[in-house]
Amino acid sequence: MVFGCEDLWVSLPTTGEVLKGVSLVVNKGEIVALLGPNGSGKTTLILALAGLLNARSGKVTLEGVELRLQLPEARRRIGVLFQDPDDQLFNPTVMDELMFTLDQLGLPPQDKERRVKEVASLLNIEHILHRPVYSLSFGEKRRVALASILVYDPEYLLLDEPTANIDPGNLNIMLKVVCSLRKAGKGILLATQAVDLVNRLASRVYVMNEGRIIWSGGPEIPEEVLVRAGLKTGQVACQ
Ligand SMILES: Nc1ncnc2c1ncn2[C@@H]1O[C@H](COP(=O)(O)OP(=O)(O)O)[C@@H](O)[C@H]1O
Ligand SMILES: [Mg+2]
Repeated sequence: MVFGCEDLWVSLPTTGEVLKGVSLVVNKGEIVALLGPNGSGKTTLILALAGLLNARSGKVTLEGVELRLQLPEARRRIGVLFQDPDDQLFNPTVMDELMFTLDQLGLPPQDKERRVKEVASLLNIEHILHRPVYSLSFGEKRRVALASILVYDPEYLLLDEPTANIDPGNLNIMLKVVCSLRKAGKGILLATQAVDLVNRLASRVYVMNEGRIIWSGGPEIPEEVLVRAGLKTGQVACQ
């Protein structure tokens, strides 16, 4: 019950080599943090793991079999939360957004309704189900984007900075939901640059810098690693 990649190399036009031999694993029932500063390659890695970007070499495997050999069926086993909810949401209303994938799954209407209800309650979006997506606040969009994945009940979740740029109320909701997903047995990879979050959520951590995993281990990360990865500020103050 494991998802991950081995020696993954990805090049992007104009930038060149963005991932330089990345290997990691996510087991079901655990939250793994992918901690790295801006530009370290977190988003690129998530897109490659989701099969949305091709690697130059190396492989992504889902439960022992190369992911590319399992596409497109495996897509519904992996949920990707994009860093920017505007990249994720494209339907006119919140309800349309949630129904979009459910319609493709061909579920009976009562099952679709039940899933929408459950997920809407979990993410506190019941009151905005009929709102146009463009009218939502950023925090609401982030919650709807996560809901649009959770309705199809994927086994693995790749969450790209799910707690960035949201207020404490929204942060609480996201943290609670991520914890409940872990308890439900999902395998979660959470990309973030928030070191404090790692202690609160993750059981394992990969620290990434300049396209490489420079450290991996438990949630207690040595200070020297954080400094090396540019994840810790120095003593700067304006007095
Ligand atoms: N579409 C793209 N085309 C070319 N280069 C890109 C593209 N997206 C990201 N990059 C570059 O790849 C590197 C890693 O970016 P990214 O994966 O977004 O890092 P992170 O998510 O950790 O901030 C950066 O140098 C960035 O400028
Ligand atoms: Mg990113």
